[in-house]
Amino acid sequence: MDKTVREVKQRSWMKWLWGNMQGHRVLYVTAIIMTIVYNIMQLIVPYYSGRIVTLFEEAGAKGTPLTDNLDEFILNLSLMIGLTLVRITIVYFTCMAYEYVSQHALYKIRNFLFDKIEHQDMNFYNEYRTGDLMTRLTGDLDAVRHNVAWVIKSVVDSFSLFIATAVYFFIMDWLLALCVLSITPLLFLVILRFKKASAQKHRILRDKLSNLNTDAQENISGNRVVKAFAREEYEKDKFNRSNTDYAEANMDTQRTWLRYFPVIETFANLLPVILLLAGGLFIINGRIGIGEYVSFSMLIWAIANPMRMLGNIMNEFQRFAAASKKVMEIYNSQAGIVSKENAIKHPDRFKGLIEFDHVSFGYEGGAVPVLRDISMKIEPGQTVAIIGETGCGKTSLIHMIPRFYDPAEGEVRIDGINVSDYELTDLRHNIGLATQDVLLYSDTIEGNIAYGDSSLSQDEVVKYARYSAAQEFIDKMPDGYETIVGERGVGLSGGQKQRISLARALAIKPSILILDDTTSAVDMETEKHIRDSLNELDFNCTKIIIAQRISTTKYCDKIFVMGDGRIIEEGTHKELCMKGGYYANLVELQTGLELKDGVLKDSVNMTAQLAGKGVN
Ligand code: GTP
Ligand code: MG
Repeated sequence: MDKTVREVKQRSWMKWLWGNMQGHRVLYVTAIIMTIVYNIMQLIVPYYSGRIVTLFEEAGAKGTPLTDNLDEFILNLSLMIGLTLVRITIVYFTCMAYEYVSQHALYKIRNFLFDKIEHQDMNFYNEYRTGDLMTRLTGDLDAVRHNVAWVIKSVVDSFSLFIATAVYFFIMDWLLALCVLSITPLLFLVILRFKKASAQKHRILRDKLSNLNTDAQENISGNRVVKAFAREEYEKDKFNRSNTDYAEANMDTQRTWLRYFPVIETFANLLPVILLLAGGLFIINGRIGIGEYVSFSMLIWAIANPMRMLGNIMNEFQRFAAASKKVMEIYNSQAGIVSKENAIKHPDRFKGLIEFDHVSFGYEGGAVPVLRDISMKIEPGQTVAIIGETGCGKTSLIHMIPRFYDPAEGEVRIDGINVSDYELTDLRHNIGLATQDVLLYSDTIEGNIAYGDSSLSQDEVVKYARYSAAQEFIDKMPDGYETIVGERGVGLSGGQKQRISLARALAIKPSILILDDTTSAVDMETEKHIRDSLNELDFNCTKIIIAQRISTTKYCDKIFVMGDGRIIEEGTHKELCMKGGYYANLVELQTGLELKDGVLKDSVNMTAQLAGKGVN
């Protein structure tokens, strides 16, 4: 991984969740306290039942009628019913509170994550696959919410019920309580072993889900390629494999749970048996009365259920642990390219002087060298072209200007100041970039053009569409500017997409306009129209145009020819034609004519060829 990418700070999940509950912490703590309270209140029914049974028992022993103790009987019964109703009300509001806090924490984390992802640098997008990021934003985050709303609540539920009951048992009869609780240490050992086994299974399961989502996402967005190569069956098999992997990982996780589940269940089921044996014995020898036994027996579930639940809770907690690790990785990540602490604010337009000063750069921390010692100067308002064979580093070069990447050596300056010293948003607001790989949003054409400046008026949208020679085809569309273009501009031709992308770049009235192969898919006439419009823009702007066609570069103030990451030639069209180097060869190749002293002449070969074909 690129060292410049980011540092991942590991913070404990509790601290992290606590941080995201800000504003709702009091409610959450109240919910936890109320959970403890209502669990203690679970003892109400058995307690009062025990007392009522004791009343019967005493009456029976004394031979007095029950009506003698009617008031006490009614009081006990009323308290039992009344307090139970109070308990149910508390349970209701507590559940609501957990849900409320968890939803708010989820909302906050999701927004924060999205913001983090939005502000990441290119290295981040090279490293993380879309499907994986989507999994983090959806499934993983839901596991986090589930932890706040259910897992933590269940832990408090189980422990408070268990402890309250254990204390109550000890108060009633310590020896019987000890007998009943004697198996709990063994159960904890089993749960600890289960935790170890299930942690890894949940990590694998989570990764398989991410693979499945990535496969689905890539297939849906790349569906046209799949169809073009008739690879549906292949993709179906590939998806099937991911699906099988995921299903098997799920089964494996369940199998681990099922291996431990019977042991835990056996321990829980042993409790009533122990109570029956020990309790029966203690009744016979007079250690406890029937009323106490009834209380014990009515509450034995309050020991058994938390024991049963513990396995389930551990299982869910491991799911959360695997998911939260993935979420926190993004949450705590730092973008490698950010504004400096004392960054220069520059809300105004740049003059547009661009300098590359001995710039070198390589991807993957320099492992793939791409730019080698590049120096060039572009004056404000100039239109320059960059030309060179495919893969020589043209796109990489212009990506240094808006700081998509930072140079390994040297510096890029705008108006004499290193681009890394500017506030990043101010820098980027000043640059209009039409990327080589055009991406349009699922929105109207108007929405796409006004993407960088939503305050743009309809007239201005039309003006920029005219500049980029897009107006004509947009007018012909049934809904004109209101036409919805699909994801990635589906429904438009390559050249149409390029023109909308150009209009979008122009619409922010940038002080630096960068066009990366933006007219490669348009015809020569349209290209000329665009070239003329660019000369007549109603704002000052330095233009950098990456192009393969001589017809585009010819009219530029200066041309930089790149080869293998270096500037190998620079000058005007005329100068480079005179030079007789790479550019001059390109001119000959593209025109089919020969250069003599920098002037194009009919080549002898061409004339002969044409003559041979009877064309004179
Ligand atoms: P064309 O657009 O085809 O004309 O090429 P270009 O001159 O714009 O080349 P570009 O700057 O895109 O790429 C230069 C070199 O860097 C090529 O060898 C690419 O394989 C490599 N490269 C480009 N982008 C990346 C990237 O994101 N990661 C890595 N590792 N290499 C990259
Ligand atoms: Mg390129």
